[in-house]
Amino acid sequence: MTLDAAPATTINERPLPATFTLNNGVEIPTVGLGTWQAPLNVTREAVSFALKQGYRHLDCAYIYLNEREVGEGIRASGVPRSEVFVTSKVWNLHQDDVGAGLERTLENLGLEYVDLYLVHWPIRFFPDPSAPNPLRPLNPDGTYKVDRAWDQARTWAGMEAVYAAGKARAIGVCNFSVPYLEALSRTWKVVPAVNQVENHPFLPQHALKAWCDARGIVLEAYSPLGGPGAPVLQDEDIVAVAKRNGVSPATVLISYQVNRGVVPLPKSVSHERLVQNLRVVRLSAEDMALLDGLAARGKAQRLNKPPFCWDLGFDDWD
Ligand SMILES: NC(=O)c1ccc[n+]([C@@H]2O[C@H](COP(=O)([O-])OP(=O)(O)OC[C@H]3O[C@@H](n4cnc5c(N)ncnc54)[C@H](OP(=O)(O)O)[C@@H]3O)[C@@H](O)[C@H]2O)c1
Repeated sequence: MTLDAAPATTINERPLPATFTLNNGVEIPTVGLGTWQAPLNVTREAVSFALKQGYRHLDCAYIYLNEREVGEGIRASGVPRSEVFVTSKVWNLHQDDVGAGLERTLENLGLEYVDLYLVHWPIRFFPDPSAPNPLRPLNPDGTYKVDRAWDQARTWAGMEAVYAAGKARAIGVCNFSVPYLEALSRTWKVVPAVNQVENHPFLPQHALKAWCDARGIVLEAYSPLGGPGAPVLQDEDIVAVAKRNGVSPATVLISYQVNRGVVPLPKSVSHERLVQNLRVVRLSAEDMALLDGLAARGKAQRLNKPPFCWDLGFDDWD
């Protein structure tokens, strides 16, 4: 796998794992390619190029509206379907019929199954076919039409059904805080394999990670570079760690996650950056401690906060 193909063990020659094992035994490649905001006209080529370079994990979602192009990229790469770990997510609008949501995604991707299917947000939208954008129905005041009475246990039962049907090799959630996970745990029959949340040294989510670790739930890091424009790359402490190790700031942020057992999902459509983002190095205990402590030392920042007007249970989310 890629990480073996591009080892950069400048710090310590012990190899890092190329995969982590999920709680149902499925292997997940430790670095995935993000596809949010990958423009339609370049997605096919970027995905194909990435797979040829050695990526084996793609992070997709129905709402990214580019799953057709991702599927075309997989086929154009020549890499067998069975060697690619494909994740997608049920959109907020489709939580009342997870199976139908997954079918839409499978049709778009041109696949028979996904490797991982996630609840995108712990929020259900009311459908409004007459809305200007029916996928994002809004109230007259501009807030989302959130179904405040919806119980996420119902969504999770739908997730368990597509898992039982073999349409998803593993199932999990995104953007679930500890209180939301605790609520879900009262009725879940299948423990989520994954919780995908915003994660980088400004938002390391140590308490959430400890909760998930204790239950065998793998954390995935979305926006590992800070999201669009990759703002965390500019941070002086990150740049200093990069210089000390002779690697790029992106390599530090991606490696930080793999070193702590978290799956980073960096997005890029640039050939140069796609190659750069495959480089993963082992960081020293001192560097890990420094990165782990940046948020507590005044740099805490959440960068992805859609206006749901809904309490998601995170301490920094009002
Ligand atoms: N579950 C959720 O709710 C959720 C939310 C957000 C994101 N995600 C997933 O997580 C993935 C990653 O998060 P993200 O897209 O928000 O942000 P990200 O991966 O942290 O950052 C992407 C940005 O960084 C740039 N970039 C990538 N590699 C770079 C490098 N080596 N040097 C400099 N700039 C670089 C990209 O531009 P170029 O493309 O031009 O290189 C893009 O502007 C998403 O694509 C999506 O799959 C999930």
